[in-house]
Amino acid sequence: MLNSNSMVIVGAQWGDEGKGKVIDYLASEADIVARFQGGDNAGHTVVYGANIFKLHHVPSGILNPGTLCLLGNGMVINPLVLVRELTDLEKRGIDTSNLRISGKAHLIMAYHQALDEASEKMLGVNKIGTTGRGIGPAYADKALRRGIRAVEMVDFDRFKEQLAGILPLQNKILHALYGHEGYDLDELVETYRPAIERLGPLVADTALILDEGFKEGKNILFEGAQGALLDLDHGTYPFVTSSSTVAAAAATGTGVGPGQISKVLGVLKAYTTRVGSGPFPTEDSGEAGNQLRDHGHEYGTTTGRPRRCGWFDAVIARYAARINGLNGLAVTKLDVLSGMEVINMAVSYKCLDDETDNFPVSIDDLKLCSPVYETFPGWDEDISRARSLEDLPLAARRFIEAIEEAVRVKVDLVSVGPDRSQTIICPGSKLSAWLQG
Ligand code: IMP
Repeated sequence: MLNSNSMVIVGAQWGDEGKGKVIDYLASEADIVARFQGGDNAGHTVVYGANIFKLHHVPSGILNPGTLCLLGNGMVINPLVLVRELTDLEKRGIDTSNLRISGKAHLIMAYHQALDEASEKMLGVNKIGTTGRGIGPAYADKALRRGIRAVEMVDFDRFKEQLAGILPLQNKILHALYGHEGYDLDELVETYRPAIERLGPLVADTALILDEGFKEGKNILFEGAQGALLDLDHGTYPFVTSSSTVAAAAATGTGVGPGQISKVLGVLKAYTTRVGSGPFPTEDSGEAGNQLRDHGHEYGTTTGRPRRCGWFDAVIARYAARINGLNGLAVTKLDVLSGMEVINMAVSYKCLDDETDNFPVSIDDLKLCSPVYETFPGWDEDISRARSLEDLPLAARRFIEAIEEAVRVKVDLVSVGPDRSQTIICPGSKLSAWLQG
C-alpha cells in the first residue's frame, strides 16, 4: 500500500464552527472528500472570490475540480434537496460530475420532514429546535429497519416498490399521532421521479472507492458536519442531532477501519455559538453576545435563525478534544473578536460548591454550572489581512496561545476571514505536510 494521507475534520463545539472554509482550504490537496454523517441539516458557507456557496449535502471539496466527493453510508439524504443543490452549483459553473452517493445511505422522505415538524410542534416549549429537515425521523427509521436506502434509486421501480411498502405505516403514524392527512402514493412517487432518475446513476459502493484510494496512496479528507456537543451520545442530550458527529464516526459512516485515519483536526470558533434549544454555559445575552452576532454574521445557513452567541469555552473544547482524539486545532473567526475591549474564556465551571474542569454527563448538572472566566485584553486592529502569526497583534497571539494551553492541543490553523486566502498556517503545523501534497 502506498503512503496515504488521511484526515478527519470535525466540529468541536455546537456546529457552525467554520468547517466549510477549513475543509475547502484543505480540499485543494485532497483527492477524495467524504462526508460521513448528517444530512441537509448541515450548512457550510464557502466563500470563493466573489462567490458565496451554501452547501448542505455536498462536501465543500466540490469546488475543487478533480476532487472526488463522496456522500457516505452514515448520511441521510433528501433527494429533492440534493438535486436542487447540484442544479444550483451547475448553474454557477461548478462541475458536479465527481459526486458519488453510497448505496447504503438512507433517504429522507417527505414524511420524515412532516414527522419532524409535527413532533416539534407537539413538544412546545420542550422542543429540540431542530432544523425541520426530517433528520431524526430518517435516522429513527434506519434504526427501526424500515428506511429506504439510496441504492433503491438505481431502479425507479424498486424505489416505488419500497415506498409502496412503507407509506401506509407512515401515513397511519402521521394521522394517529398528529392528525396529518398523509401522502398519496402515486403523487409522492411522481414528486420524486426526476430526483431519483437524476441521482440513481451517482449511487456507488463508496467504501470500495475509499479502499482503492487508500491503496493508491491518495489524500483523503473526511468531512464532519455539526459538532461534538451535538453528538447523539456525547452531546447535550436530548438537545443534539441524531447522528454521531465525532471523529470515530468517520470510520463507520464511510466503511473504513479506524486505523486508517491518522489526523484528527477539530475546528473551533474563537468564541462559541449554538442554534436550537439546550444549555450553553458561556452564552452572553447582553452587549458582547450581540456584538459577536453582528460582527460574525451569526445567522443559520440552513434555517436563517439568529445564533445564540457567547465566549470561548475551554471546558467544552477540552471535552471535544478528548472524545474525538483531536491532534490539531483550527481556530476560526479570530477577526470577529477585533474591537472587543476584553475577551473572556471559560477555563472551568463552578457547579454548586465545586469547581470542575470536566464537562458533566447530564444536562441537568450542566444547567447548574456557571463558567469561571479568565479575561484577556482585546485588540482594535483589523486582522483580516494577517497571513502569519507575526502579523497578528500581541493580544491576538496571546489569545491563540491561551487556547492551545487550555485545550492542550496544538493550534495548526487560524482563520481571519471567510476567503481561502485569509488563513494562517501556524509554524510546526502538521497541516504543512498535507498542503505540500
Ligand atoms: P436536527 O439535526 O435538525 O435534528 O436538529 C437537532 C439540533 O441540532 C438542533 O439544535 C439544531 O439546531 C442542531 N443542528 C443541526 N444541524 C446543525 C448544524 O449544521 N449547525 C448547527 N446546529 C445544527
